[in-house]
Amino acid sequence: MKLLFIGDIVGSPGRNMVEEYLPKIKKKYQPHATIMNGENAAAGKGITEKIYKQLLEWGAQAITMGNHTWDKKEIFHFIDDATYMVRPANLPPNTPGNDIAYIKTNNHEIAVINLLGRTFMQPVDDPFRKADELIERAKKRTNIIFVDFHAEATSEKQALGWYLDGRVTAIAGTHTHVQTADDRILPNGTSYITDTGMTGPYDGILGTDRESVIKKFLTGLPVRFEVPKDGRTQLSAILVDINEKNGQAKKIERLQINEDHPFFS
Ligand SMILES: [Fe+2]
Repeated sequence: MKLLFIGDIVGSPGRNMVEEYLPKIKKKYQPHATIMNGENAAAGKGITEKIYKQLLEWGAQAITMGNHTWDKKEIFHFIDDATYMVRPANLPPNTPGNDIAYIKTNNHEIAVINLLGRTFMQPVDDPFRKADELIERAKKRTNIIFVDFHAEATSEKQALGWYLDGRVTAIAGTHTHVQTADDRILPNGTSYITDTGMTGPYDGILGTDRESVIKKFLTGLPVRFEVPKDGRTQLSAILVDINEKNGQAKKIERLQINEDHPFFS
């Protein structure tokens, strides 16, 4: 079974890339399941109900989130009904939304988990112990488990990767928006990448208008960050080949689509 995971979709440039390339990626690689990180999908911060539904319509079976989950206030009106959205699990008890989403594909179930890192980020509960708890719960239903670890520090991401090796199918980093070249299968069968990369503007800084980011570095003054509407765009993703019998990953492949890495069908 093949799983496609698309990294942080940023604003309308990111959504347009998904709309344009997802049919082509599906045709070429034939993934059985598609998961996307949507925490930046609405103008770089958060997600709306309309966008959530649009991503599902385009072919996502689950949408993972991150530190921007709550940025669009309307999330509170639809998150409890958003069966295929999974918000970070290591938040206080009774936080609205799913801490695990289950998707059915190819006669198998995939448990989808989203965790937040703690290093250089807002304080949250321990992602390591929360992962233990969720894996125990998920294993009662399926041995195919996908983890999106939304974190800043490469060390924390690698630590969770090694900690979960052999207990989950795949752990894919998100949040830092730059695809890392360390994709691999760890010794006990878990696929790992520190960051999947971002889907959105190609000539900005992490998906944001570069002029305002440079201005912030030059002046230290508060600056409003916007997602540039025009310009070149990119899509970043991974494809994981899964042995559905034991839930282990067989192969991981990185995907980057931009003008320097054009898509060949
Ligand atoms: Fe983030």
